[in-house]
Amino acid sequence: MTHGQSYSGPMALTEGTRVNLEPAKRLCKPFLTTLSVAVAGATLLLFNSGCQQSYKLHHKKGSAAAIIAPPTVVKPPSASDDAVAAAISTGATLPTSFHALGLFTGPNATQPIGSLVPYNVKVSLWSDGLDKKRFIYVPTGSTITYDSSSSSLVFPKGTILIKHFADGSTPIETRVLVHSADESWKMATYQWNASGDATRVDAPAITTAAAPSNKGYRLPSPAECQYCHATTGSPVLGFQPEQLNGAPSGSSTTPMQSLEATSGLIARIFATGVPDAINAAPSRPDPADSKLSTSMRARAYMDLNCSTCHNPKGMANFLDFTLATGLTTDYPSALLAFQRVVPGELNSSIIWQKYTDSLYRMPPVSLYQDPLGYQLLHDWLSAWPVPPAAPAPVSPSVPVANGKGTANGAGTAGTKVQGPDTGNIGGTAAGNGSGTVTGNMSGTGTGNTSGTDAGNTSGTSAINAAGSGTGSQSAGGT
Ligand code: HEC
Ligand code: HEC
Repeated sequence: MTHGQSYSGPMALTEGTRVNLEPAKRLCKPFLTTLSVAVAGATLLLFNSGCQQSYKLHHKKGSAAAIIAPPTVVKPPSASDDAVAAAISTGATLPTSFHALGLFTGPNATQPIGSLVPYNVKVSLWSDGLDKKRFIYVPTGSTITYDSSSSSLVFPKGTILIKHFADGSTPIETRVLVHSADESWKMATYQWNASGDATRVDAPAITTAAAPSNKGYRLPSPAECQYCHATTGSPVLGFQPEQLNGAPSGSSTTPMQSLEATSGLIARIFATGVPDAINAAPSRPDPADSKLSTSMRARAYMDLNCSTCHNPKGMANFLDFTLATGLTTDYPSALLAFQRVVPGELNSSIIWQKYTDSLYRMPPVSLYQDPLGYQLLHDWLSAWPVPPAAPAPVSPSVPVANGKGTANGAGTAGTKVQGPDTGNIGGTAAGNGSGTVTGNMSGTGTGNTSGTDAGNTSGTSAINAAGSGTGSQSAGGT
């Protein structure tokens, strides 16, 4: 199947069908090379425009499936919970069926096992407007510790983190991070289907059963998880002190306070002293906080949404969008290179072009702009101070007749010509001379000299002093 074609082959696009995409043009790297069909009966349309490629799936929305509800009471892990979690962390790979993970039970896997701890974060990553629910599982007898050198949390083997994405009442995907028994981290996302289970996604998948307005939503492959989760120290990005110790916008309760409100939870999942360390650590600045400056808000936005790839160790390390190292000042001058920012010319700035490009856009893992990100980047890039214009090149001034009808000193126009800074004060014409200094003061006529000094005094006529005696006087002026 090549670009510009609508799929109409003999193969039915049933759920799970894998389609290989072979761009006819090899000029540009294809953004996707395979995608799997989310819903039976879909029609796949491929089209391109120059280097841009896009893939659209059309289908009728499926019937409602599982809606995950956080537990009302969080229990300590039972022996069976620990057995389920241990199977996940010791297994070579994650199972293809979400049901088979065993972390959610009941009809359509809507009930998390009792020991999954729901939590929230101060600032959420933008994911095309989907709602998110987050859970963490810490095995019996293990606790989370604190590394003060990096202000980050360290998770025991067997820890499982879950982020569930829904479009209102339609579940879309559930992402899983597992700290395996061999210390590695397993990562995968599961795509919900109309039959109430979710299937592991092995290649990027696109579904239209999602916000905003059924326009399409893209689920990342396990390899793409690594972009963000494997480059910046801890693979756990949200369950960290800076995200747990500050209240999300519109709330007065911090995620830590919510955890504390559940009896016994803090003592069970954290080692002694860790909650205090979390509460004392720096808190992540919230891009939605209108008390912060526009620059701070925009940079905080990029730190969360861009720096997972654009950091010194990241896969897109040619740009550093971390607050700690790359975006340390209001208007970092390093961003002026390669027209990433062109002060005073928003539309010429590469950052803006990349952020607003409808097809080949940044960040690459989402398809739609975050209204908040749009506003903040727009305001920040527009406010970038325009550097003072470089001084105009000094062009030699043409010797001119000075004053009113007077000749230039020494009979001819001097060959050495003073530049535009020749000190005419209130005078109307520039003095020329072969000397080095010409001073005219508030006369209308000017004097010229071939001497080394020329002094014109104020008045309506100017008098030239001849430094070396060759200057002639000119009685100029009115
Ligand atoms: C564009 C960068 C990016 C990509 C790609 C990405 N994530 Fe994340 N993920 C984040 C950020 C940032 C957070 C923390 C903020 C939040 O929870 O909204 C996060 C949070 C999570 C969490 C909650 C635990 C934690 O780290 O705080 C899980 C689970 C998760 N991601 C799994 C995945 C999986 C699985 C994939 C791949 C299928 C993936 N993510 C792809 C950036 C990314
Ligand atoms: C998942 C990783 C990832 C995330 C997240 C991400 N980028 Fe990128 N970015 C890349 C890669 C890879 C490239 C190089 C390929 C390209 O230009 O498309 C790139 C290129 C760019 C470029 C152009 C290259 C240049 O040298 O000037 C800009 C500007 C940019 N990103 C801005 C952003 C902004 C702004 C965000 C956040 C809103 C962001 N990126 C988030 C991976 C990422």
